[in-house]
Amino acid sequence: MTAHPIVLAPDPVLKAKATPVAQVDDGVRTLMQDMLDSMYASQGVGLAANQIGVLQRVLVMDVAPKNEPPQPMRMANPEIIATSEETAVNQEGCLSLPDHYADVERPARVTVRYLDENNEQKTIDAEGWLAVCVQHEIDHLDGVLFVDHLSALKRNMILRKMTKLKRNQV
Ligand code: NI
Repeated sequence: MTAHPIVLAPDPVLKAKATPVAQVDDGVRTLMQDMLDSMYASQGVGLAANQIGVLQRVLVMDVAPKNEPPQPMRMANPEIIATSEETAVNQEGCLSLPDHYADVERPARVTVRYLDENNEQKTIDAEGWLAVCVQHEIDHLDGVLFVDHLSALKRNMILRKMTKLKRNQV
């Protein structure tokens, strides 16, 4: 069990585009497990590799309700191959922006193709909270944070507070 510290915004690694993995091998499986450990340790529901400083296209999620058994999901090279025209607005947060939440509008449903932990290609149709989460995490792999979907005014207000928080932590 290796829980890594979560990279806080603003940070260049959170603005960088992650690189696809060649295949899901033992190294990627270990990364996936470390990411799940890090996510659970921080009580998150999703984590992208950028958030522990690794620029590989890998994400993990667990959107199971709190009173139900864990349902860890591991994805490498996830790709959105279809989106609904219908959109939904949900309040989002992020382990890299602790204590900040805002409404973000996204497609209500998405179809995602990815490699699972056994290097097998899978496709899922996601809706509800899973759709929100998977789009948020894929954004991370492209260097996009949920605040990038907000107005510049709201974004800068949150990022200024984060800069102050990080300065005070040093
Ligand atoms: Ni996030």
